[in-house]
Amino acid sequence: MRSVSVYTSREYTVYIGGGLLSEAGGRIMAVCGGETAALITDDIVNKLYGDAAERSLRAAGYAVARFVFPHGERSKTMETYTAILRALAQAKLTRQDVLVALGGGVVGDMAGFAAASYLRGIGFAQLPTTLLSMVDSSVGGKTAVDLPEGKNLAGAFYQPHIVLCDYETLDTLPAEIFNDGCAEMIKHGVILSAELFAILKEPMQSNMEDIITRNITIKRDVVTADEHETGIRKLLNFGHTLGHGIEKHSDYSVPHGSAVAIGMVLASRGAARAGFCDQECHLEITEAVRRYHLPTATDITPDQLIDAAFFDKKRSGKRITLILPERIGKCAAKDFSLDEFADFVRLAV
Ligand code: GLY
Repeated sequence: MRSVSVYTSREYTVYIGGGLLSEAGGRIMAVCGGETAALITDDIVNKLYGDAAERSLRAAGYAVARFVFPHGERSKTMETYTAILRALAQAKLTRQDVLVALGGGVVGDMAGFAAASYLRGIGFAQLPTTLLSMVDSSVGGKTAVDLPEGKNLAGAFYQPHIVLCDYETLDTLPAEIFNDGCAEMIKHGVILSAELFAILKEPMQSNMEDIITRNITIKRDVVTADEHETGIRKLLNFGHTLGHGIEKHSDYSVPHGSAVAIGMVLASRGAARAGFCDQECHLEITEAVRRYHLPTATDITPDQLIDAAFFDKKRSGKRITLILPERIGKCAAKDFSLDEFADFVRLAV
């Protein structure tokens, strides 16, 4: 087992190991205490791991209230969020109790927002079961739901008290969902680590503990330096402004990692054409995306992408910040007027 300590407004530890799910109850009790655990998950993860998680929580002394919602980004709404809050109230959770998010990014983001807002904040444990949520969304405290106007538009920064990444849960992931997580690892390589980018050219299955730990360490360094995304954390948005537009305009039929993969290909093509990086950098990113069978193009039109970006969180007044590569391992934030941004998107697509 490996561990990574995160030094944000709340200090916490991310554990990475095989079989951690069965130890989850004891580890959560040691950090969070409390009497009742609300176990929040989706229908797919519930069938696979809901009983094991509940057994572990009960063995540690928790009374468990389970709330299960239909899987997928289309559930990440104010309606489901409200239903979770009501389930917490009906289970009579107090501020001393704990919410346990078991699943991928949708579960962690939405349950995290419920943990942040119920009684103005209760104990929060993340048990990510997808590669994407292990290497990215379970660490760093971003919680949110989508609005009809755009993705993640309502939420809060709320750090978990503990994160337990049991990589054995990845064994049941369909290949395309596993690959979705690889998009966020490619992103980490492009923005901050040419070494990680090179490692991703090798088969990874034999050393999941190491590769997950490397990615979490990169993310930890970024969020420790800039918890509330006023500076370096913006780099983690590489591929995301265009990616969120693809998700929104595909009605979330394109999963997050796939949309980010396309967003990285488009952003790097635009960057190469605009002279921010050389063509080789764009080609290397495209090749990395293809290596994990992720998509490199979209039917969503430039106008739709431009429209979506105007609703994105990365807009500030009349300006939009895009993260663009300078070379593999180094990205920078570039500030565009709305007209410049529209020109950039047309250049990139
Ligand atoms: N997933 C981007 C971030 O946590 O900032």
